[in-house]
Amino acid sequence: MKPRIFITRKLTEEAVASLHEKYDVRMWDEESVAVPRAVLLKEVAEADALWSVLADSINREVFEAGTKLKIVANMAVGYNNIDLEAAKEYDVIVTNTPGVLTETTADLAFALLLATARKLISAENEIRKGNWTSWAPMRFTGMDVGGATLGIIGMGRIGEAVARRAKGFDMQVLYHNRNRKPDAEAEYGLEFRELDTLLKEADFVIILAPFTPKTAGMIGARELDLMKNTGVLINVARGGIVDEAALYDALKNGAIWAAGLDVFEKEPIPLDHPLLTLPNVTVLPHIGSASIKTRLAMMNLNAQAITDVLEGRKPKGIVQ
Ligand code: DGY
Repeated sequence: MKPRIFITRKLTEEAVASLHEKYDVRMWDEESVAVPRAVLLKEVAEADALWSVLADSINREVFEAGTKLKIVANMAVGYNNIDLEAAKEYDVIVTNTPGVLTETTADLAFALLLATARKLISAENEIRKGNWTSWAPMRFTGMDVGGATLGIIGMGRIGEAVARRAKGFDMQVLYHNRNRKPDAEAEYGLEFRELDTLLKEADFVIILAPFTPKTAGMIGARELDLMKNTGVLINVARGGIVDEAALYDALKNGAIWAAGLDVFEKEPIPLDHPLLTLPNVTVLPHIGSASIKTRLAMMNLNAQAITDVLEGRKPKGIVQ
């Protein structure tokens, strides 16, 4: 019997073609609808490999059900959706997709920063609503990005890629990270700051830290209050790093000027979420890595990791 792979989203045929010959590939048949929990648990019970996406909660219950499971290949660089302790206990390898999405996610982070600073989305919407009546001196005005100070929280691969982009905009780049990065400081002229100092000095703050128990709720009312009232917060990491209730208050009360969010505490963000009532928030549906080339590269990494494990080789991108 061929080893079985279960894929939790409908992927392009191109991405899974190489697997069909040797494996029994089963795939949930919707791209934009999450696999129902009951289906996931039933499928995983028969699977040797699970190919998950960041929206799937791969918790202890999944590892308990997956008695034959050898690998979970997660289609994301983040893996906070996976219970690594349970994976270890059940002796399941977990892999992610580092490296291939760095530049694409940095592009999106910078695009969101520019869109938020210059109100691009709401300005475009005003045209479509027929509200562009004449050139207006102060209407649609935003914040300058060129020459401003950027504070990056989390200086990993994507942080460095954002810093490189910022240098092209003549920005002063501050960063905060668990440990200092002397090489990146020298190469890109970055300046380390303690978190509070970074929040006080930066015009734009971008969150690029992983979501861990330490970073959960790291940006709350106190931290938002430290930011300039002309400050802009951009989050392309994980929603849980920012306290959304505190962010709503800060945006509503003018403690900060605007926010650009690609990630949310709960995804998809519920349509009645208070943040969606504010004009100074730009929202995106978690599309940091969404370029055609990058998504296909991520899928290739996942497919290769699964093949490696099922054929007894050590895969790339092991997170535990
Ligand atoms: C990831 O892959 O973890 C990121 O959220 C990309 O958007």
